[in-house]
Amino acid sequence: MTASELPRTVAVIGTGVIGNGWIARALAAGCRVNAFDPDTTAAARTRAFVARAWPALERLGLAEGADPAALTFVDSLDAAVEGAELIQENVPERLALKHDVLRQLDAVAAPGVVIGSSTSGIKPSDLQSACTREPGRVVVAHPFNPVYLLPLVELVGGEHTPPRVVERARAHYAALGMRPLVVRREIEGHVADRLMEALWREALHLVNDGVATTEEIDAAVVYGAGLRWSLMGTFLTFHLAGGEGGMRHMLHQFGPALKLPWTKLEAPELTEALIDKVADGCEHQAAGRSVAELETRRDAFLTELLALTQKYWPEAEGLEGRI
Ligand SMILES: NC(=O)c1ccc[n+]([C@@H]2O[C@H](COP(=O)([O-])OP(=O)(O)OC[C@H]3O[C@@H](n4cnc5c(N)ncnc54)[C@H](O)[C@@H]3O)[C@@H](O)[C@H]2O)c1
Repeated sequence: MTASELPRTVAVIGTGVIGNGWIARALAAGCRVNAFDPDTTAAARTRAFVARAWPALERLGLAEGADPAALTFVDSLDAAVEGAELIQENVPERLALKHDVLRQLDAVAAPGVVIGSSTSGIKPSDLQSACTREPGRVVVAHPFNPVYLLPLVELVGGEHTPPRVVERARAHYAALGMRPLVVRREIEGHVADRLMEALWREALHLVNDGVATTEEIDAAVVYGAGLRWSLMGTFLTFHLAGGEGGMRHMLHQFGPALKLPWTKLEAPELTEALIDKVADGCEHQAAGRSVAELETRRDAFLTELLALTQKYWPEAEGLEGRI
């Protein structure tokens, strides 16, 4: 990472699951962080979160001078953007709230500073419509949980976004140790959530129809497709499934099955019965282990998995220098 691309100060707005993940990542990269969240318990929660995440970040390699104490909680958006070279918005996924916060941020942020929104599904143009000063600098910068370990960030510019803003955003997030994926066209759900939602809908149908339990469905991913996906994704994995003939053979052989009505596509109705079945299934799988305990185990696994990815796919962009 180069000093000029790394934002020296990052403003993190909204410090729930995702905001905290951004904070831990930015601190590990050696940035200062100004955080704002109206919840009076937020600062204590964030500091505990960063302390839990820090061992995994140490294993990945901290930047020189990285310091968990470089975090300041402030009590207004104005104070949060003071001196910030990158602003990350992570308030709940409600358009009216995002509009309110982004409009205020755009009004007080220094000219040219990129405002990234973590939104999982909203299009950047729909976010920009609330801003009057520099709407083009509001881009989607969609990360994945846990943000401090997973490198992917989807970057999506809206109708007002000039290419130089996307370039600046790309440089900032790469300097934060991420693998930016610039999405060519804005659509709801961007790219990755479109894919995850498709799997998620089918998984809920399988539980709802009594075909499999949550545990069985997770086993189907963990011991099969998931292992392959973590190295090669969907397309290259299927390329290998075609044998010597690669993807072309694979499509000729299995292509017709795509027309069979295997998948339902529409989400099932989230009835109380389905919610109980899914939530009880997850409690059973957790077997009394707390979310924090499971997070620690996941983090240890992910740091080793990232090292493995780089070992077997050394050209993997965005992982250089982190492991
Ligand atoms: N949870 C995920 O797995 C995930 C993954 C990628 C992206 N996202 C996106 O990240 C964003 C945040 O999601 P989350 O899961 O962290 O939600 P969350 O509910 O855990 O956290 C939201 C935080 O925003 C704070 N907040 C509420 N109003 C605010 C305001 N006016 N100003 C500043 N802070 C305010 C809340 O107090 C809370 O701490 C959403 O847009 C979501 O779509 C979530």
